[in-house]
Amino acid sequence: TKKAFIFDLDGVIVDTAKYHYLAWQKLAHELGIEFTPEHNEELKGVSRVRSLDIILELGNIQASQEEKDKWLIQKNEDYLSYLVDIDESEILPGVLQVLHHLIDKNQPIALGSASKNAKPILEKTGIIHFFDAIVDGNDVSNAKPDPEVFLQAARKLDVAYENSIVFEDSVAGIQAANIAKMVSIGIGDATTLNEAKYIFKDFTFIDLSFIDSLIN
Ligand code: G6P
Ligand code: MG
Repeated sequence: TKKAFIFDLDGVIVDTAKYHYLAWQKLAHELGIEFTPEHNEELKGVSRVRSLDIILELGNIQASQEEKDKWLIQKNEDYLSYLVDIDESEILPGVLQVLHHLIDKNQPIALGSASKNAKPILEKTGIIHFFDAIVDGNDVSNAKPDPEVFLQAARKLDVAYENSIVFEDSVAGIQAANIAKMVSIGIGDATTLNEAKYIFKDFTFIDLSFIDSLIN
């Protein structure tokens, strides 16, 4: 059967989650807010606007819309400054093998990301041609764990939700996939991502026979 294979971007396909972390940490530091890797888990998969609100709540800071807009621009400029020279070396290990295998098996592939920077990242890393559909932060109004981004992706691929498979590194993204009744595959730490149907530390742990078992 034809399945929809939907990939999150940051922390799944490319190693950009660390750059989001650095940029948020810098901003939090400037605002005098303590920001740890544990706090950062809550931001993964979450939109830029919502991420800032979470950080401000952490520091118990009330801010005007004007200030927030300024910080959002600053965070994105810092984030983009880490991305200026990114290339295919930023693609996470094992990802290309799985993408090539899906193409060989004629399976439709979509991106389902909260990021508004998704397209330039896919272009710079040279993998945009793998995707039959791209749904990103410019297309959706509800952030993960709302399933909107994955529902749109499955619809664009013309595949039923229950025949859709989602690769995610964030708790919010796994929840979104589960709410959509899609097969959720966590990429990362098994304890953090325990709500996922399957969990792999990274793509090098995914056997191509496992992919085949999802298709058949
Ligand atoms: C992804 C990342 C988040 C990021 C969000 C928005 O979901 O996991 O860390 O905040 O996208 O990304 P953007 O590039 O639009 O700021
Ligand atoms: Mg992610």
